[in-house]
Amino acid sequence: MRKSILIIGACGQIGTELTLALRERYGNDQVVASDIREGNESLMESGPFEILDATNYEAVENIVMHYEIEEVYLMAAMLSATAEKFPMRAWDLNMNSLFHVLNLAKEKKINKVFWPSSIAVFGPTTPKEGTPQHTIMEPSTVYGISKQSGERWCSYYFKKYGVDVRSVRYPGLISWKTLPGGGTTDYAIDIFHTALANKKYKCFLNEGTKLPMMYMDDAIRATIAIMECDADKITERSSYNLAGMSFTPAEITNCIRKQFPSFEIEYEPDFRQEIADSWPSSIDDSAAQRDWDWKSQFDLDQTTEEMLRNLGK
Ligand SMILES: NC(=O)c1ccc[n+]([C@@H]2O[C@H](COP(=O)([O-])OP(=O)(O)OC[C@H]3O[C@@H](n4cnc5c(N)ncnc54)[C@H](O)[C@@H]3O)[C@@H](O)[C@H]2O)c1
Repeated sequence: MRKSILIIGACGQIGTELTLALRERYGNDQVVASDIREGNESLMESGPFEILDATNYEAVENIVMHYEIEEVYLMAAMLSATAEKFPMRAWDLNMNSLFHVLNLAKEKKINKVFWPSSIAVFGPTTPKEGTPQHTIMEPSTVYGISKQSGERWCSYYFKKYGVDVRSVRYPGLISWKTLPGGGTTDYAIDIFHTALANKKYKCFLNEGTKLPMMYMDDAIRATIAIMECDADKITERSSYNLAGMSFTPAEITNCIRKQFPSFEIEYEPDFRQEIADSWPSSIDDSAAQRDWDWKSQFDLDQTTEEMLRNLGK
């Protein structure tokens, strides 16, 4: 299967692994990576790369036309913790980049769009356990407000203009190849680096904060699956709930202690505690299971083993 793909924000935590996975699947030359900065060696050397600012419509359009791009994966965004510090910049990046890509699809210059949403679309009034696909959504963070608005626009562009846009609400993603980019669930990656350095971990969330998480391999598989699914099977044109596992800092600590019995943690919650408290603890992703056969594979034990083994190399 050959098709030409553009990834915007390709050098980040998800973009790096997504680019490599798509290149393996569709051919290196078919997948153009782009970002406002250069990425790691494997990304830069395995296929075409362009410096591109996602907020510049003309620049995005030029790359799309030059490479005859058919599908865009828009991964550039400002994440939850950073967005609380720079609300206007976050809104500007998260919304304008999405409009640019949706408008290119509306004008039929591209024919399919992937845009990720997040569990941050939910808020303090959302049911916390087994959060349904359709439920109360009153996000209280800058990031969550931008993601919820983005979902409404995706749905609008589909209904009004027939734009084939697909989306999932990623939970916190755990990976070892690239460092995380300023989210509230970053602790679940930092903790492995600290354990391997034989140091005590200072956690910015308290010990009982249960959040939905997912191992990166599952997230990449979900992303490719929803993009390859027949269009008529996609019944949610805002975004799909996606679930992997749910755990607390205390539980991940216990899991790490199976390999590092003397690993220590202390809790010093900061402003990110309030963000985490506004999010669900677990997610119901039965709509994704029903529509495109989604099923996660990695639980906390497997994720811990993978992280310690790969980071320890
Ligand atoms: N990582 C997670 O746990 C998680 C969870 C839920 C949703 N998401 C969403 O997935 C997407 C990717 O997240 P990530 O974790 O890879 O983020 P990241 O911060 O690691 O990567 C974002 C990339 O976008 C680039 N970028 C920033 N501004 C840009 C601009 N103006 N033009 C072009 N590129 C720009 C950055 O340089 C970076 O490489 C985002 O939409 C994010 O909201 C991520």
